[in-house]
Amino acid sequence: MERRSKQIRSAWAWALLILLAQGAMWLAPLLGGTEWAVEADSALMVEEGRKLVALTFDDGPKGKWTTKLLDGLGERGAKATFFVIGAQVADDPDKVRRMIAEGHEVGIHTYDHSTALTDLCRADFDAQVGRTRTLLTELLGDRTFLVRPPYGAIDESVRTWADAPLILWSVDTEDWAKMNVEQEVACILDEVEDGDIILMHDIFPESVEAALQAVDALHERGYYFVTVSQLFEERGIAMEKGKSYSRAPAR
Ligand code: NI
Repeated sequence: MERRSKQIRSAWAWALLILLAQGAMWLAPLLGGTEWAVEADSALMVEEGRKLVALTFDDGPKGKWTTKLLDGLGERGAKATFFVIGAQVADDPDKVRRMIAEGHEVGIHTYDHSTALTDLCRADFDAQVGRTRTLLTELLGDRTFLVRPPYGAIDESVRTWADAPLILWSVDTEDWAKMNVEQEVACILDEVEDGDIILMHDIFPESVEAALQAVDALHERGYYFVTVSQLFEERGIAMEKGKSYSRAPAR
């Protein structure tokens, strides 16, 4: 009898332990600062007065580095915008499908990054921008694909032919030249302000690592990572075709 009641008591103790563990699991996201920021990163949950920033990545998708970046952004709940190279999308269409499925934005860089858009005649411009738009539309459906002109080079022809808003940047990490995680993170943390668009490239391991470290540091500072379109929408700015945009601070 004594033994049996001991067994019952220990069964109750186990049940209580399991309940407590489950409670802690549910409570953790509510108590932990980082987890909470991750939850709130969705633009739909952005409250007025929040600091917003748009991370943008050019020249991808590129194999495992883009995958590592998507994994890291997913873990952190941060959204980003990818200005892709059409030829690389054709080689790896699942990567851009994943971007859209995970709440990121996909825009057009060029088809093969051969030269600045300002150097091109109409036919060659269409072979870079139009061809990439057609490919993305086939993969992702009909939607607005913002255009990031290489080197930020824009002239009247580019404005007229792009058939989309042109997205520049306000924080240039120069990651392609630095190739140094610490320096790139420092650059972002020193320069970033509310409404900024940060330029990086998801084709270098250093850039991917720096971007994820910067997300963690800026989450701590109360920043929320949204796509370029979400940033302008949240700020009440209707982007127009042929116009260029480099940041969207609160007004
Ligand atoms: Ni580029």
